Amino acid sequence: MTQAGSPAITTDHVERHGFGVDVGGSGIKGGIVDLVTGELVGDRFKIETPQPSTPEAVSDVVAQIVAHFEWTGPVGVTLPAVVTNGVARSAANIDKAWIDTDAKALFAKTIGHADITVLNDADAAGVAEDRYGGGKDKSGVVVLLTFGTGIGSAVLHNGVLLPNTEFGHLQVDGKEAEHRAASSVKENKDLSYKEWAKEVSKVLETFEALLWPDLFIAGGGISRKSEKWIPHLTNRTPVVAATLLNTAGIVGAALAADTAADSGRAR
Ligand code: BGC
Repeated sequence: MTQAGSPAITTDHVERHGFGVDVGGSGIKGGIVDLVTGELVGDRFKIETPQPSTPEAVSDVVAQIVAHFEWTGPVGVTLPAVVTNGVARSAANIDKAWIDTDAKALFAKTIGHADITVLNDADAAGVAEDRYGGGKDKSGVVVLLTFGTGIGSAVLHNGVLLPNTEFGHLQVDGKEAEHRAASSVKENKDLSYKEWAKEVSKVLETFEALLWPDLFIAGGGISRKSEKWIPHLTNRTPVVAATLLNTAGIVGAALAADTAADSGRAR
């Protein structure tokens, strides 16, 4: 196994491995990532999110996942929360005790080493999709949206992330964007893809007015059925489906940790 920071030459490409853990409301998943291709090296490992999902309970599971792979290099961890300087500042679909928790310090303690990067889950997915997936080779402003229980957002300009945009909470026509067009709304209200796409279009039009993006990438589980709803969208900016699907969070977390370790090495 090649750990980050020690690239190995293979016949195909230079390998560089990283490690990411994606913390979600129902599952915590981790794995080793090939940072050249953005693919997982071997299987991902998933443990159900403990209930209540307190910082202590979740960080124990994250540490178990890291130990499962015997990984000792930099670790990236996502949270469904605003994260500034390693501190969680909000908590969506995760225990409210996360608010103001120094997640970076907590993970460093439970995992047992200090090379930890913590970032918002949608930001991680955005970084991964922009580099390896739907936004590959696309320059300009790329906005990834994850449609799930809520709506997560990531904004990138020429590959550089503007973190914690939280567009899911913007007001769109008198309602929070995620209360209007998360995929959970489609389920709860039993909307057809066409009906739901109308709400998504409204949300995208509001984001377009703010940013004039060059591309939207639609992520989250519902992006697997993109052919059923993307053609119904009426907004201006092109929308493509995410391609990494359920590995995007892990891959983006690994990439963020590797980038942070790299800037540390350069200092
Ligand atoms: C949260 C975001 C998160 C998104 C997806 C939103 O409700 O505020 O932080 O990225 O859900 O999990």
